Amino acid sequence: MISDILRRALRPLFQRAPWLRTLALGSVDLLVRPALFPYRRARPSSNADDAAMLELKTDEFNREAEHYFAAYPDPDRLLDKPFSEPEFFSQRLIDVGVLVDGLRLRPGDVVLELGAGTCWLSHLLNRYGCKTIVVDVSPTALSMGRSLFERDPRTNWHLEPEFHVYDGHTLPLDAGTVDRVVLYDAFHHIPNPWQLLGEMRRVLRPNGIVAMSEPGRGHSTSPSSLAETAATGVLENELALEEIAERALASGFVAARVILSGRPPSLLEIDARDLRPFMGGRSFGRYWKNLCTALDSHHYILLFAGDPEPTTRRPKRLVANIRRIGPRRALQISRGKPIELMFDVHNAGDTHWLRGENAAGWTRFGAHLYHSDRTLVDYDWVRASLPQDVAPEQNVHLVVTLPAIQEPGNYLVVCDLVIEGATWFAERGTRPLEVPCRVV
Ligand SMILES: C[S@@+](CC[C@H](N)C(=O)[O-])C[C@H]1O[C@@H](n2cnc3c(N)ncnc32)[C@H](O)[C@@H]1O
Repeated sequence: MISDILRRALRPLFQRAPWLRTLALGSVDLLVRPALFPYRRARPSSNADDAAMLELKTDEFNREAEHYFAAYPDPDRLLDKPFSEPEFFSQRLIDVGVLVDGLRLRPGDVVLELGAGTCWLSHLLNRYGCKTIVVDVSPTALSMGRSLFERDPRTNWHLEPEFHVYDGHTLPLDAGTVDRVVLYDAFHHIPNPWQLLGEMRRVLRPNGIVAMSEPGRGHSTSPSSLAETAATGVLENELALEEIAERALASGFVAARVILSGRPPSLLEIDARDLRPFMGGRSFGRYWKNLCTALDSHHYILLFAGDPEPTTRRPKRLVANIRRIGPRRALQISRGKPIELMFDVHNAGDTHWLRGENAAGWTRFGAHLYHSDRTLVDYDWVRASLPQDVAPEQNVHLVVTLPAIQEPGNYLVVCDLVIEGATWFAERGTRPLEVPCRVV
């Protein structure tokens, strides 16, 4: 009840002055910080001291990796991943979704998968339309991977997928030839990870991205890892996220990020009727603790060779708050006469809007025209250029000329933003502004 009144009172205020909302959220953030102090635990230590020793044993680990696949008792299980592991199925699908999202991956991209094993992930990416290059130290794994591609009649062979065995030191690729690198459950098996970070940076194009899904704190000493190493000799390395980030920056990456997303079993369900109270802060502590535990025990890591901020060339969250500036009364237009309206547009997403005309990511204001009963008059009714590129949290003002309407009657002008040739923001979750008007 009180929260409803507060929400109703604050919403128009926040819409008019988005900076007030940022300030209010910032203060809440500061207030809860002391209560969350216990989660700021000391940074975990990696086994960096052993790094030089591990690196010397690279050839030995390569042989163990090959032996693992050559001696695997049930190859069909490996070839049928992720369907052959019902207990991990949801986890794998979530991981793939998070990695594809973090990579801002598009059909047509050239993707290197390092430590691809039997190539199930690369095969998915081939079906998505990417040119895949898989690299691994195990010839057996890659020949199984190739047969996985061969036995599926829907494999996109025109994308010329490549399969390369390498020596564990130098990637068999020229510099600046891949758009993306993905590692799934593989980086922590590499005995010389810092050398390979340099190699990944070398083969990436200037705006390239690496994404990995890797186990977190305590993995190398977990009972299952100890048992795996004892049985197969395969390396289960302990890597600290902070160290990966530092080494990546030292290798020429410009940013290292971690995606704040939990995977099963950290996902929580609550009673549907409790969603609003939850969003208002109830059970926040339980949720936070759960999320932190998940973030500690598993990492989605992104390394950027160029600017990490998404742009409308490869958008992520497209959220525009559009507000009409001017008198609040209903809009009345004279038939046959164009009219100018002013709008304030706030970028409430995470994606930089590009205004460059006819260039990739070209973003404009647009409006559709409907009769008041929502039958369509003209979907592509209006376009207006942005005055500048618009960064997240930035506002711009626009003066938009609406063309003349000849027929008197009641209409609805639906205002939105559009990335030309790609998407309207409304298709990606933005609520367009509806301006009812009367033509007389
Ligand atoms: C746990 S498996 C994961 C395989 C695959 N990504 C998957 O999800 O099925 C680890 C992979 O890392 C590979 N690997 C081991 N040492 C490597 C190295 N130095 N460089 C690249 N890959 C390596 C292994 O051969 C194996 O395919």
